[in-house]
Amino acid sequence: MTTNDGLTALHAHAQRLQGTGIPSLLAAEPDRVKTLALKVGPLYVNFARQTYDRAALDALLELAAVCDVAGGFARLFGGERINITEDRAVLHSALRGDASPKAAAEHAEAVAVQRRMGELVKALEASSVTDIVSVGIGGSDLGPRLVADALRPASGARLRVHFVSNVDGAAMQRTLATLDPATTAGILISKTFGTQETLLNGAILRDWLGGSERLYAVSANPERAARAFDIDAARVLPMWDWVGGRYSLWSAVGFPIALAIGFERFGQLLAGAAEMDAHAASAPLERNLPVLHALTDIWNRNALGCATHAVMTYDQRLALLPAYLQQLVMESLGKRVKLDGSPVDADTVPVWWGGAGTDVQHSFFQALHQGTSIVPADFIGCVHNDDPYTVNHQALLANLLAQTEALANGQDSDDPHRQYPGGRPSTLILLDALTPHALGALIAMYEHAVYVQSLVWGINAFDQFGVELGKQLANQLLPALQGQGVEIADPMTREVLGRLRG
Ligand code: F6P
Repeated sequence: MTTNDGLTALHAHAQRLQGTGIPSLLAAEPDRVKTLALKVGPLYVNFARQTYDRAALDALLELAAVCDVAGGFARLFGGERINITEDRAVLHSALRGDASPKAAAEHAEAVAVQRRMGELVKALEASSVTDIVSVGIGGSDLGPRLVADALRPASGARLRVHFVSNVDGAAMQRTLATLDPATTAGILISKTFGTQETLLNGAILRDWLGGSERLYAVSANPERAARAFDIDAARVLPMWDWVGGRYSLWSAVGFPIALAIGFERFGQLLAGAAEMDAHAASAPLERNLPVLHALTDIWNRNALGCATHAVMTYDQRLALLPAYLQQLVMESLGKRVKLDGSPVDADTVPVWWGGAGTDVQHSFFQALHQGTSIVPADFIGCVHNDDPYTVNHQALLANLLAQTEALANGQDSDDPHRQYPGGRPSTLILLDALTPHALGALIAMYEHAVYVQSLVWGINAFDQFGVELGKQLANQLLPALQGQGVEIADPMTREVLGRLRG
């Protein structure tokens, strides 16, 4: 069987199941709510409200076997250079555990840098610094921003961490307006140290601080970082080309996380991810959480043709998760050619989006319930809360359950305006509680699910050439906006430049 045969088989199953409601699937397979549920460490995930039945799921698992998902994991964890377009290994797992003896050297390097990072955290905690401004963008921002926001204490944090990413000067202006340069330190994070946004914002921050004395850097190009901003080598932490930007929060890119939540809890985050690594590497396909999550996404995208996928976080502290996942998933899987350069055989990544419940129920949920597009969704909640408002937490969970039930089951009515069609699939993800360990496991689950999808589609999940052209053009147009005589070929750009220059 080929991958194409496997994808064709999915279409046949989708056709067979057309018109079968989710309640009928649950009625036909009474143990479905248990057999399609997995508990891996702190995560409970239930796929029972997806629209595949046992036979269709078997076809998905066969597709995973044909695409050698198990071999793919062995290559990933074994440090093979699977990012073939950039000739790099992909070893974010070595940052959080020593699962593979083949990646022992990388793991040892990672541990040594973590130790240095821990010392810097300790020194900053003992200093007069109260605030940290972290400057970076994309993978050098979204992960640390998400985790720091999710896990920071509600009050009484020793250090407040602020994030600036956008090149829009208003972002930096607003952040600095609330701070005192005498009690602020800065971290510049950039894998390449060639990113326009970070270089410009870094320069503003250094000047505002009055020099680089309280400036730190994280980069895979530490010499360039130290040189460009005159930062003492003791305050520059390395990362490596075997860590992709959007997979890097586990490295020294997580320095702001360790400052926001404490070094020990940063270690617990890594341990949670390591637990998911061990599970992904060893669990059989049919009980492998990232594999089942990925196959569910493949079903919704390729068999049902859904163009978008939503993530609803029923925990306000995870409000930044959809933005983080947009980069992780769409930068990884937004590809149209296979590893060998030939066109892909099926649609690849849908648009990922989402928001925090219950707010989103009062904004776009109308479209989810009664619109013409089916939007498969992950609903994420926590069994236990950490705030003192128990009734609110119960109401939050009641809403989570209500929405997933209403989306799946719908409700009939004689009045078409008041009819809910149902048949809208969702996956339920429950964390025992929002601990560093659970969040680490959750993020690692998504990372591995991304990789599995890339194996099915035959694409490289670890490059991102699609973002380069726009960057190059922006670098060429900046001098034109500054009034330098640059030749502009595109007539529309030329016209608008004239207006922008006044
Ligand atoms: O814009 C895409 C990208 O290359 C991301 O992949 C990366 O995370 C981000 O830019 C930032 O890059 P750097 O860490 O090199 O500044």
